[in-house]
Amino acid sequence: MGAIMVLRIVHIGAGVFWAGGVLFMNFIVGPALGAAGPEGFRVMQELNRRRYFDIILGAALLTILSGLDLMRRDSGGFAAPWFHSPVGIGLSTGMIAAIVAFLVGWLLIKPAIKRLSALGAEMAQAGSPDARAAIAPRADAARARLIAFGMVGSLFIVIAILAMATARYL
Ligand code: HEM
Repeated sequence: MGAIMVLRIVHIGAGVFWAGGVLFMNFIVGPALGAAGPEGFRVMQELNRRRYFDIILGAALLTILSGLDLMRRDSGGFAAPWFHSPVGIGLSTGMIAAIVAFLVGWLLIKPAIKRLSALGAEMAQAGSPDARAAIAPRADAARARLIAFGMVGSLFIVIAILAMATARYL
């Protein structure tokens, strides 16, 4: 099996895991956890403990690194003319969108998840309904931010998927 085949297996394997993990979390699991109330926070903490979000970021990194090596080989060592060809433009668009999605995940979504689960833990430990009610607005704001960041990350993932899936036929 050649290097390109191995790289493609790693790239596409890690890419589907990353993109699927993000879209599944954003559009299916996230809203379900939000609707589940305190139990939702517990599941979120458990996902954190099992490093679900770090695993997703690891797959993202693997996708990007294997993608860069595929790109280096396709473009004859990142030669400029390739980047002006339709395929080059398509794949570079996907690359930029995917890297933006990774940065959104790492710098915005991950801290927002930490903050929301910390507030969830605070609420669970709060002794009285009043103490819980005092934390609730901060938790709602943290959830709203997480949902917004999740939507932005998902948008860039979808752009990357569209570009990667079609580049070769441009
Ligand atoms: C969400 C992230 C990504 C997904 C789901 C994804 C998916 C794919 C898929 C399915 C292909 C095969 C396309 C085909 O053969 O027609 C592909 C090819 C490719 N991808 Fe990505 N990709 C992602 C991110 C990236 C990134 C970040 C880069 C660059 C750093 C990149 C560079 C490439 C290159 C150069 C190819 C062509 C490989 C070849 O010569 O066969 N991809 N990608």
